Amino acid sequence: MAISIEKFQEQGGRLKTDDIDFDSFRANPLDEHVLRCIGYMHDIEYQTVLYTREMLLMPAWKDPQFTAFLTLWNYEEYWHGQALGRVLAMHDRPAHDPRLTAMRSWNHRTLAWSPLVFWTLGHAIRRFPAVHMTWGAINEWTANAAYNRLAKIADHPALTELLGRIMRQEGRHAGYYAAAARDMLEERKAQKVTSWFLRHEWAPVGNGDVPKIETSFATAYLFGSGEGAELIDRVEERIDALPGLRGLNLVRNAINDARQHVIDVEGAVPEARMYEWTRAELEPEIV
Ligand SMILES: [Fe+2]
Ligand SMILES: [Fe+2]
Repeated sequence: MAISIEKFQEQGGRLKTDDIDFDSFRANPLDEHVLRCIGYMHDIEYQTVLYTREMLLMPAWKDPQFTAFLTLWNYEEYWHGQALGRVLAMHDRPAHDPRLTAMRSWNHRTLAWSPLVFWTLGHAIRRFPAVHMTWGAINEWTANAAYNRLAKIADHPALTELLGRIMRQEGRHAGYYAAAARDMLEERKAQKVTSWFLRHEWAPVGNGDVPKIETSFATAYLFGSGEGAELIDRVEERIDALPGLRGLNLVRNAINDARQHVIDVEGAVPEARMYEWTRAELEPEIV
């Protein structure tokens, strides 16, 4: 059953970072591969506002519960980007507005036209809300898994604390999206439309927003080896449990494609540090 906005807004809000020791990154910096993933995450977190622009062009703008969710969700994602930008800045990497300005200029053509695409899909396909709510759930589940994995690889106390707080909010986002998707997917036609869009159009979040190789790198580096792959098994189980969506193997297929892309362009995917997982760690706080 759909989660009411009253329940969603009970927790959450601006990410708490005032007690995170950002200065510790100066004495104990993160490695190159971890920083590359954080750069990618910074970009897609901040990109949420442009995705919100697209969502508001669909007929669901009439639903006050949906617009309230978009408002709160977008606000929380903004602070995720802001916090990750602070981590990048502590390593003297581009972050915040200059990085976003460059990204929006790189991607100007797609960003200029995407609202029209969403307006058209939203008005031409009556079951499209089931597609974007399912899409949202999958992206939040994978974001949660990505932060989980990145924290383990980096093994940095300040980053672990920060990513743990972000993960808890991603879990709430996933819960909201998945509950709405489950309701909409009760209808057979919505299942068919959603399954078609996922099979033909789904790609890991960031595709089209940042250079494809950055999405491929983060996907392959975080999920391409044993422990990351196990986290993705949990995500696939959650997708399989949605009505009419069993057996899509979306994320696993995307990881294989991402690995191949990184190998083709850069020669190899660097090995992430090995880590012994406990069962509890493989069950992140997601609904
Ligand atoms: Fe986020
Ligand atoms: Fe999120």
